Amino acid sequence: MMVAMTYEARRAEIETYFDRTAVKAWAALTSAAPVSGIRAKVRAGRDEMRATLLSWLPADMTGLSLLDAGCGTGALALAAAARGAQVTAIDLSPQLVALAAERAAADPAAARIDFRAGDMLDPALGHFDFIVCMDSIIHYAPADAQAVLTGLRARARRAVLFTFAPRTKLLMTALTMGKLFPKKDRSPAIVPQSEAALRAAFPIARSHRVSASVYTSQAMEMPA
Ligand SMILES: C[S@@+](CC[C@H](N)C(=O)[O-])C[C@H]1O[C@@H](n2cnc3c(N)ncnc32)[C@H](O)[C@@H]1O
Repeated sequence: MMVAMTYEARRAEIETYFDRTAVKAWAALTSAAPVSGIRAKVRAGRDEMRATLLSWLPADMTGLSLLDAGCGTGALALAAAARGAQVTAIDLSPQLVALAAERAAADPAAARIDFRAGDMLDPALGHFDFIVCMDSIIHYAPADAQAVLTGLRARARRAVLFTFAPRTKLLMTALTMGKLFPKKDRSPAIVPQSEAALRAAFPIARSHRVSASVYTSQAMEMPA
């Protein structure tokens, strides 16, 4: 598939951010270690989001395959593998992928996870029953985010579950405050998407919005 230059440029910024600038911040946010107020709320919101996405997947995933697209530190990949799924967990950041593999290592389900560093759109990854994209397209411009979803949908047999940052007042406030991470760690800006535009572009079977302090994210299920 043709990818836009804006996608490639943004991808490079995201890789630098998640592989260098904010590796420690992400390791902490996604661990069980205590974190301060605002981050604890973000962690709780992200836990709720992961639970929502997992609730939309079959309880028994034996014989099913799943791509965790932009897996970060791998919590969703491990949960899907624990249900019996054959999982490919891919992220742009080799450091986060290494951390994901390290965290999963003690769990027997990790044997069903293929951890990879690279682009989630790589056609060499093949086809999957389910593709889950949790907070992985929130930094892309709307046109690029939609192109990613179109690319992933072509490789899903059952459904793509994804999240986006909805255009809300709360999110705009959070973006303006920019308080989530120290300035040096600040992420590439989150780009809000229009829910109506996504619904016009794709068939959407289910939707659920999580709003927890500065974490606002909306999940959608798109049948393949
Ligand atoms: C906000 S984090 C979320 C990580 C994980 N899904 C979670 O919810 O914990 C977004 C992740 O998407 C990854 N990402 C963004 N664009 C990607 C791409 N094109 N291919 C693979 N990973 C990508 C980033 O490297 C980052 O780790």
